[in-house]
Parts: sequence; C-alpha cells; structure tokens
Amino acid sequence: MNQLANKVAIITGASSGIGYETAKLFAAEGAAVVIGARRQAELEALAAEIDLAGGQVRVLAGDVRDESYARALVGVATDAFGGLDIAFNNAGELGELGDTPSISVSSWTHTLETNLTSAFLGAHYQLPAMQKRGGGSLIFTSSFVGNTVGMAGMAAYAASKAGVVGLMKALAVEFGPSRIRVNALLPGGTETDMARRFADTPEAMDFMR
Ligand SMILES: NC(=O)c1ccc[n+]([C@@H]2O[C@H](COP(=O)([O-])OP(=O)(O)OC[C@H]3O[C@@H](n4cnc5c(N)ncnc54)[C@H](OP(=O)(O)O)[C@@H]3O)[C@@H](O)[C@H]2O)c1
Repeated sequence: MNQLANKVAIITGASSGIGYETAKLFAAEGAAVVIGARRQAELEALAAEIDLAGGQVRVLAGDVRDESYARALVGVATDAFGGLDIAFNNAGELGELGDTPSISVSSWTHTLETNLTSAFLGAHYQLPAMQKRGGGSLIFTSSFVGNTVGMAGMAAYAASKAGVVGLMKALAVEFGPSRIRVNALLPGGTETDMARRFADTPEAMDFMR
C-alpha cells in the first residue's frame, strides 16, 4: 500500500471500465487523483467513493478532443495538489465499426481525434508540468488491436492505437533525459462497456478471451 504516496495523477476515461478501476487503485495507493471523462454524474459517483475511502480527488468533466480540456486538467492538478507526477491518458472509443469503404471521413476523424490526438494534447500540457517536478510517468492506453493483431472492421481504431505506440516511442526518447518515463499499455480483452459492444456474442467473447 501507499506506493503512490505524495504523487499527483491525472486519469482520463475514469467514468467507467479500466480508468474507473485505475482511479480507485491509484487513490488507494495514496495518489491525489484528478479524474476526467465526459459523463459528470459517473465521475461524481467515483469521486464520492474515493472520498469516502479517505482519498484525495478532484473532478473535471470534458472532451479529450479539446485542447482547452487537456490544459485545464493540468491546471486542476497544479492548483489543487501542487503539481503533476503521473498522467494516465486512457480515454478512448471504438468508433464506427465496419468495412473501410463504408466508414465516413468524419467518423474516421472522430476516432483519430479521440484516441490519438487526445494523447498528443494530453502530453503537450502534462510533460512541462512533470519537468517542473523533475520527472514523472506518462502512460497511454493503446490496444492489442492494431499492434498485436489485425482485425476486420476496425481500421480507424487500429490506426489510432498503433499511432499511440509511435507517439509513445518518440516521447520516451525525447523525455527520458528529463526523467520522465513514457509507456503505452496494450490491454488484452477486458470486460468493460467498450468490450461488451465489440464482443456482443458468445463467439466474439471467446475470441477475446
Ligand atoms: N476493454 C478492452 O478490451 C480494451 C482492450 C484494449 C484497449 N482498451 C482501451 O482501454 C481504454 C479504456 O476503455 P474501457 O475498455 O475501459 O472502455 P469504457 O468503459 O468504454 O471506457 C472508455 C472511457 O473513455 C471515455 N471517453 C471516451 N470518449 C471520450 C471523449 N471524447 N472525451 C473524454 N472521455 C472520453 C469514456 O467516458 P465518457 O463516455 O464519460 O466520456 C470512458 O470513461 C480505451 O482507450 C480502450 O481503447 C480496452
């Protein structure tokens, strides 16, 4: 316990699934957490849970596609808790699924902005804040899709998640000298709202497993 005592962390995609559980775990390990996603009510419910367990938490709802939201999350971490040590840029969406000729340019762009541009925007504001602390840990959620396996009907999702790995590699080299570790997680199938949408039959769930 208390592995993250005196650390301040931003966690996006905290209104459900992997981000929700991560926020609870980070807070239980002693980190002060700033939790983000679009659904305010879910974030408030999580904050109440963390608060009740004795953790430190602030909520800021918003859309990770917005540059102003990326800046504001770092502002909350700094104003409320004095700085930033860890950022878990985890928010993501599957986007429109289907054969590539049937996918609209606007849904392609939406998925790329949600999963990849958001990672850049987060890093853009988080890295200078971590440099002020003398180091930190920047973490992205990529996926097995687009990296470990190719899957039909998921071109935008796969491209965005592969892009996150490229971004991570560049940032790891750029910011290693500043004592900032940069990593991407490639979770396997994890039973969340997103996975239930994708693996919506017993056969698909078996494949995920
Ligand atoms: N589950 C899996 O099997 C699996 C496997 C590999 C990778 N992943 C990745 O893991 C991450 C978390 O997904 P999950 O499985 O935990 O699914 P989830 O429960 O659907 O969580 C997705 C989270 O992202 C947030 N989000 C989506 N679009 C957003 C936006 N535009 N602005 C702000 N927040 C946004 C959602 O919150 P709001 O709707 O409230 O905004 C939600 O909190 C994703 O990046 C996903 O691609 C999941």
